[in-house]
Amino acid sequence: MNTLNIALLAGDGIGPEIMEQAVKVVDTIANKHKLNISYSKALVGAIAIEQTGQPYPEETHQICMQADAVLFGAIGHPKYDNDPNAKVRPEQGLLAMRKKLGLFANVRPVSCYSSLIERSPLKPERIEGADFVVVRELTGGIYFGQPRGRSEDGLKAFDTCVYETYEIERIVRYAFETAMQRDKKLCMVDKANVLATSRLWRMVSDEIAKEYPDVEYSKMFVDNAAMQLIVNPKQFDVIVTGNMFGDILTDEASVLGGSLGLLPSSSIGKHTGIFEPIHGSYPQAAGKNIANPMGMILSAAMLFDHLKMSNIGTEIRDAVEACINKGIVTEDLAKAGEKVYSTSEVGDAVAQAIGNSVLI
Ligand code: IPM
Ligand code: MG
Repeated sequence: MNTLNIALLAGDGIGPEIMEQAVKVVDTIANKHKLNISYSKALVGAIAIEQTGQPYPEETHQICMQADAVLFGAIGHPKYDNDPNAKVRPEQGLLAMRKKLGLFANVRPVSCYSSLIERSPLKPERIEGADFVVVRELTGGIYFGQPRGRSEDGLKAFDTCVYETYEIERIVRYAFETAMQRDKKLCMVDKANVLATSRLWRMVSDEIAKEYPDVEYSKMFVDNAAMQLIVNPKQFDVIVTGNMFGDILTDEASVLGGSLGLLPSSSIGKHTGIFEPIHGSYPQAAGKNIANPMGMILSAAMLFDHLKMSNIGTEIRDAVEACINKGIVTEDLAKAGEKVYSTSEVGDAVAQAIGNSVLI
């Protein structure tokens, strides 16, 4: 088997410590399945700004382009969050990366582990069995549209939401294909009662829907969708939506299962895909060995799925689930009065569950 080349972009805050756990798990599974993996580390985010002046240096881009997949930790630093005038921001690194790698599809699966049901902010009967995927458009919309910026006197600021037909087509088609692999239900979320871009989304996706008669297709306004996610999350199978709506709805969706720290994601498109937890850099926890590494580890599972090794992806997911069921979890998931495990202990336990081939 050829060597698998994985770029490691740990980034800021808790990024490096959760990345260490994912690498531990990937090494263990590679050992077991006799896979050769080579890692290339690269800078991104605030740490990259500090060391190179750029949040996504060219050298990092080259490393990503040459890799088979990118594992990404987190970016962001309070220094920039508290300085609205900062010219260069860590988040620009992630946005540049998505754009330059052409990663137009962001896939965020949401499900609920039965042993964590009581951690959910929802009543158990509402959340039990919920299992859906949000397909978020990632390289267009208000995140990138021009013009954007401030008026000369600084008193006015503007962002522009732009979507071209081809951008909508490719993401909606990807979402229909995803639905075909699942329960064959797709809900397109927009704000077509107000926004011109959303009306174009509707036209384009109505057309594509005709190619997928087996998929139960529906449309929902984003404000209603935000409410439906709370009231009846089980109605969803695949949700497809634009960049900004997807950003907001996935943070909302992520806590339904009990913790933001559990959710993985993949961003795929033209060049190398990125696999990253959906949470941020959690600076308050950085260096304390307390952050939940499971979203990062589950992102590595999605990496293997994407590289057509979903048996490995499944093995990683099973090991994570075994640890959750055993209560081997960090403070965000620990039950009152029970032992709280550290980041590295959770990483060790997941690796051990894989290494033993038995569920601990
Ligand atoms: C996400 C994040 C990013 C986004 C930030 C860090 C730029 O919130 O991946 O959801 O808004 O896309
Ligand atoms: Mg977000």
